[in-house]
Amino acid sequence: MLRIGVLVSGRGSNLQAIIDGIDAGKISADIGVVISDNPKAYALERCRRHRIKSKVILREDFPNRRGFEEEIVRVLKEEGVDLVVLAGFMRILSPFFLSHFPDRVINIHPSLIPAFQGLSAQRKAVEFGSKITGCSVHIVDESVDGGPVIVQAAVPVLPDDTEETLSERILRFEHRILPQTVQWFAEGRVKVEGRRVFVEGARYGTLPVNPDLEKF
Ligand code: GAR
Repeated sequence: MLRIGVLVSGRGSNLQAIIDGIDAGKISADIGVVISDNPKAYALERCRRHRIKSKVILREDFPNRRGFEEEIVRVLKEEGVDLVVLAGFMRILSPFFLSHFPDRVINIHPSLIPAFQGLSAQRKAVEFGSKITGCSVHIVDESVDGGPVIVQAAVPVLPDDTEETLSERILRFEHRILPQTVQWFAEGRVKVEGRRVFVEGARYGTLPVNPDLEKF
């Protein structure tokens, strides 16, 4: 069975969507460990409630990023993790970290990348005046929110949207495309060919989510 490690920094609603998917039998994976770089993250409370192993690893406890990442890698390996899921983890991982999990680190980002990479993607979409934005799950590479895309969902921006109302509308799709992607990995269907990623057997050409969702 696929064993995932989830890296979080905050609220953990995407982590919750994965937990719920596992509990509902829609994801055939288990969570080996959740790692937070923030001791106050609400995601840690979710772990306690669901009896999921969690660990806080603080950047400031290490003299440099390398030491911090070495500790995260050590914990993930110790727990036998073979897919790393960034679910609201607000740090950039170095090539050193990624080399330990080649094409096996995924991230959820609240925009149709490459639009609005980095922080506050939803606010940027409102301020830009976009009419369609969305969310993406992608393989993590050395860029910031720029790695090969696995799946994207399109979400409309409404005239009276604020950052908050738009974030909420996008989040509903985040909670579907991230668990679905984990299940695609669990089924061994994600094929990476350079920048282009294909999910074997998935239905392409659908909106608002492409490729189409199957279980979520
Ligand atoms: C989510 O909206 C996620 O897409 C975003 O942070 C939020 C975390 O929420 N991630 C990024 O912006 C990454 N660049 P959550 O803690 O409730 O899952």
